[in-house]
Amino acid sequence: MSGHKIATAEASPNIALIKYWGKRDDKLFLPLNGSLSVTLDAPIKTRTTVLFSEQLKKDEFWLNGRRQTEEESADVVRVLNLLRSDESRSRALVVSFNSFPSSAGLASSASGIAALTLGGAHALNLKLDPQALSIIARQGSGSACRSIMGGFVEWTKGAHQDGRDSYAVQIEPHTFWPEIRILIAIVTSQKKEVSSRVGQTRTVKTSSLFLQRLKEVDKHLSAVKELIARKDTENLFLEVMRESNNLHAVMMDSWPPFFYLNDVSRNIIRAVMEFNSGSIKAAYTFDAGPNAFIITTDDCANELKNQISRISGVEEVLESKVGEGPKILQDDSSHLIDVNAMIPVSLSPKQAM
Ligand code: PMV
Repeated sequence: MSGHKIATAEASPNIALIKYWGKRDDKLFLPLNGSLSVTLDAPIKTRTTVLFSEQLKKDEFWLNGRRQTEEESADVVRVLNLLRSDESRSRALVVSFNSFPSSAGLASSASGIAALTLGGAHALNLKLDPQALSIIARQGSGSACRSIMGGFVEWTKGAHQDGRDSYAVQIEPHTFWPEIRILIAIVTSQKKEVSSRVGQTRTVKTSSLFLQRLKEVDKHLSAVKELIARKDTENLFLEVMRESNNLHAVMMDSWPPFFYLNDVSRNIIRAVMEFNSGSIKAAYTFDAGPNAFIITTDDCANELKNQISRISGVEEVLESKVGEGPKILQDDSSHLIDVNAMIPVSLSPKQAM
């Protein structure tokens, strides 16, 4: 149909080995420290179709078959506004499906915002390089700026007030370390008690331990980069576990304190520690939720997966390699929007992908 601009993109979540926590600018999503992550691979992904049309009256966002409220759509609309030029009055219909259970507590906002940024830019025929895409995705959800690339990715905090030097760069492609596996242990949970946005602000305002963290975190980031380059699993895994512990200690030091780890998470920590007795073969790491991400190598993945699956309260363990990064789907049949009717296709997530 003429006047329609449409594109579909897929992106995967990323797992931070050195975490982003705390902003120096809340509006521009500028972090207080650099962070480093690994992008998951394609079976764990978000597919997003973006349609711009002058016939649409307002922006509309659907996620996993449900129309999102205005509040739930705020991050998406912010990204759309960054992509649209001032003179373009086209509103957008955005339809997204996650391939992974929404209970996974995976950073679906990271994969979703990355897919939206790439798809939106493609639909509007904007020729943006990864750096520019990363800067836009950052303003949808901080950690999303790292899902614009595959492999191992660093988000440099930048120094400029306008955020022009705060974006992600790939430090190693997905082919660099094919033996790496990431296990995702899905833990039964209720809704988060504190969103990561509220939690970050609270930490910055109240935690003195956080000031100590800021003094040291860049040094750990450099160490982790070097250990990845050397493929030094033992020391890398040690750094990753201690970084996760440090982040969650800072959350507890905030006031009022808040907790993302629960008893099941702690039992997973114990199981990984036991698995590591003798030599370190795996690392646990936790984001703003109770689910565990366990980094290990292919020779250990099965045994560890079996052990983690047996822990009471672990619902499912997914397995991922290091992912290649987001892509545009060229085939029209991959669109999640019926272009003529301008409505979401009626598919379940499984049928959609
Ligand atoms: O991007 P946000 O606001 O969802 O914050 C994510 C923060 C952590 O996941 C806890 C750490 C990280 O670097 O991804």
